[in-house]
Amino acid sequence: MSTIAVVGGGYVGLTTAACFARLGHDVACGELDAEKVARLNKGEVPVLEEGLPELVAEGLAARRLSFVVGAANAVRNAEFVFLCVQTPPGADGDADLSILEAAVREIAPILRPGSVVINKSTVPVGTATFVERVLGEVGVPAGSIGVASNPEFLREGTAVRDFLEPNRVVIGCQDTGVAVRVSELYRSLRAPILVTDAASAELIKYASNAFLATKVSFINEIANLCEAVSADVREVALGIGYDPRIGFEFLHPGPGFGGSCLPKDVAALLHTSGAAGYDFRLLAAVADVNAFQHGRIVDKVRASLPAGLSGARVALWGLTFKANTDDLRDSPALGVASTLMADGAEVRAYDPVSGERALDWVAGLDVAADPYDACTDADVIVVLTEWDEFRWLDFERVGGLMRSRRIVDARNLLDPAAMRKRGFAYVGLGR
Ligand code: UGA
Repeated sequence: MSTIAVVGGGYVGLTTAACFARLGHDVACGELDAEKVARLNKGEVPVLEEGLPELVAEGLAARRLSFVVGAANAVRNAEFVFLCVQTPPGADGDADLSILEAAVREIAPILRPGSVVINKSTVPVGTATFVERVLGEVGVPAGSIGVASNPEFLREGTAVRDFLEPNRVVIGCQDTGVAVRVSELYRSLRAPILVTDAASAELIKYASNAFLATKVSFINEIANLCEAVSADVREVALGIGYDPRIGFEFLHPGPGFGGSCLPKDVAALLHTSGAAGYDFRLLAAVADVNAFQHGRIVDKVRASLPAGLSGARVALWGLTFKANTDDLRDSPALGVASTLMADGAEVRAYDPVSGERALDWVAGLDVAADPYDACTDADVIVVLTEWDEFRWLDFERVGGLMRSRRIVDARNLLDPAAMRKRGFAYVGLGR
């Protein structure tokens, strides 16, 4: 078993630390926020992630997992150091590496000779080389520390399962010996392990997210076309999905892709392409379609209201960027809420986990205690996140509370026929 340091206690860092502890390694996770560290050491996990609290508790109890303040304290005895720090978008869409650079400079004097520094954060192509250069600048002898790229493919909400049952593990490293040592950490998972050069590993991460984003924009375009030609996007998605070259996943139309990864990574890859002198036209269109889709949802709400948006009461159901996460970052729902409010609507929103926190993002949003509360006296309901609980509500009660029975279902979550039977004017996407 190996000694591992994880630098950064965000959702990737926490999942990585807890899952490596589950695999039997000794893991120290370094996080800057002292209060968060204290809470984590008591087993309090600050993100909503299925199975993570249990794994953290298990790791702490077995003394294979600990949380410490700061990167340096975590790496002291580590053979492997995973960098899981934030790489926020810079002004021009490229990833900002200043946090990563600061972490490397902080840990460099403490790293054990022969240890390996591994980028797990999503980092631009060339970052492994950049880390090597920073290590050299602070006096680490060339070759004494290995550097590798090991991108994560975790989805929020299923991150633990994605880590422990990966469809592949990608390790980018020029030095085969180092790559083999990193691959040993994952040996018990029995996943295919792909060893590449560092630049290819870094690009695999962006290409994966860009492809997923492309699928979402594609199905959103098909849904819009379905409306124009009276076809049903669900049938179309099913019909194409049976072709294994296409597959069923990521073919659900919605208000556009959001979250902390897809929008940021699409922008960063466009930036990388531009900087490399390549015009990535398809990806630019993917981003355009996504922005257009947000507006299209607002247009549907406007069109559903005979007197328009001004003065209308709009109930929003769901604020997180997708279901089963508490993450509001780049959530299309927040963009839709802001536009509706700017156009004069009174918006009252409900989210099962992140209602109150949405106030930090959309000032003046009226937050409801439950879905019924949100739709009281509303002129229209807009479903923006596919939370399961919205499927099973008492829609007679919902309709009775509203000023008029209208629903714009931006996730195609509800059954149009059942809704219409209850007297709702139902508008979905592409059906
Ligand atoms: C995404 C990738 O799926 C992960 O593989 C990757 O590791 C992660 O980014 C990352 O880079 O860290 P995540 O951000 O958790 O994971 O979200 P997704 O499940 O990919 O969903 C992204 C967005 O696309 C959401 O807004 C979702 O509602 C939307 N979406 C997804 C659709 O509108 N339709 C679909 O069919 C699928």
